[in-house]
Amino acid sequence: MALKFRKALVTGGAGFIGSHLVEALVGHGCDVTVLDNLASGNLANLARVQDKITFVKGDIKDDRTLSRVAKGCEVVFHLAAVVSVTQTVKDPVLSALVNEMGTLRVLDAARKHGIRRVVLSSSSAVYGDAPQLPKSESMTPAPMSPYAVQKLTNEYYAELYHRLYGLETVCLRYFNVYGPHQDPSSPYSGVISIFMLRAINDQAPLIYGDGGQTRDFVFVKDVVQANLLAATHEAASGRVFNVGTSNSVSINGLWELIARLAGCRLPAKHEAPRPGDILHSLASIQRAKELLGFQPAITFEEGLRQTFAWYRQGA
Ligand code: UD1
Repeated sequence: MALKFRKALVTGGAGFIGSHLVEALVGHGCDVTVLDNLASGNLANLARVQDKITFVKGDIKDDRTLSRVAKGCEVVFHLAAVVSVTQTVKDPVLSALVNEMGTLRVLDAARKHGIRRVVLSSSSAVYGDAPQLPKSESMTPAPMSPYAVQKLTNEYYAELYHRLYGLETVCLRYFNVYGPHQDPSSPYSGVISIFMLRAINDQAPLIYGDGGQTRDFVFVKDVVQANLLAATHEAASGRVFNVGTSNSVSINGLWELIARLAGCRLPAKHEAPRPGDILHSLASIQRAKELLGFQPAITFEEGLRQTFAWYRQGA
C-alpha cells in the first residue's frame, strides 16, 4: 500500500496497538512522532524503532505539548486513552478528562495546525449488548460503560469536526484485538493474553460461565492495516468503520487452540459468568471492505501462533 503522507503523529504510540502501528509507519518510510505519557504504554514496545522516531513523553491533556508535536504533521493516529473499561467505571470523571477532553484537544490541535486527517480508535463497546449479530455500523449504539460513552462521544465530535471545520476524520471500532505487546497482567486484560500466560506457566485458565460465549478476535497487524487504509482512502473521511474479522470463536474453543499450541493438557476451570459480560460479539466488516479495501490477512491460527511465540519468548 502506498501511503499518501509522510509525517505522522501517533498518540499512545508506546501502547499495545500504537507500537505496532508505529513500526509499520516507520517501515513505510514515514517520519513519526510518538506522544505517550507511559501510563499504560511501555517504551520496550518501541525498542525496534526507537532510534528512527521522535518520542515525546507527554499528555494529550497538555495543550502546549500537543501543539508542539502536531505542528507540521499531515496525519494523526489517535490511540492514547484510558483503555481499561473497569478503570472508567471506577473513575468516570478522571477517565473522561483523558478519553473525551483529551480527544477533543487532539481534534482541535489538528484543526488549528492544518492537519489533513485524524484516525481515531473507537471500540465495539459502543454497541453494548444489543442482540443483533453481526454488529453493523448502522445499528443504534447502546453504550453500557463510561468507556463506551466516551468512545461514542469522540465519534460524534469527529463527525462534527469533519462537518464544521472540514477536518478529515475516520473512526475505527475495534473488536477484540490480540497480539504481541498486549499486557496480560491484570484480570481485565484481553482473554488471549491471559490464557497464553496461563498455558505457558502450565496453569489452568478460568473461564467465566460455560465458555459458550463468542468473540470476534482480530490480530493487531490487521488493525494496523485498517489504520493505514483509513488514513489513505478518500472515501473514509467522516465515517465510522468496524474493524474485526467477521469470524468468531467460543472461549472454550479458544482455550483448546491455545492449550494445543502450548502442549498443555489442563482442562479449564469454570466460574460464574462475569457480571455485564456480553454473550456474543461479531463484526460486519462489509463497509470497511467496500470503502477501504480492508481484508484481514492473518488467520486466527497464524495470529495465535505469532502471539504465543512472543509470550513464550518473554516468559
Ligand atoms: C472487550 C474489550 C472491552 C470492550 C468490550 C466491548 C478487551 C480486553 N476488552 O471485552 O474493552 O468494552 O470488548 O464489547 O478487548 N474471559 C474468561 N476468562 C478470563 C478472561 C476473560 O473466561 O480469564 C472471558 C470473558 O468473560 C469474556 C471473554 O473471555 O466472555 C472475552 O473477555 P475479554 O478479553 O475481557 O474481552 P471482552 O469482555 O469482550
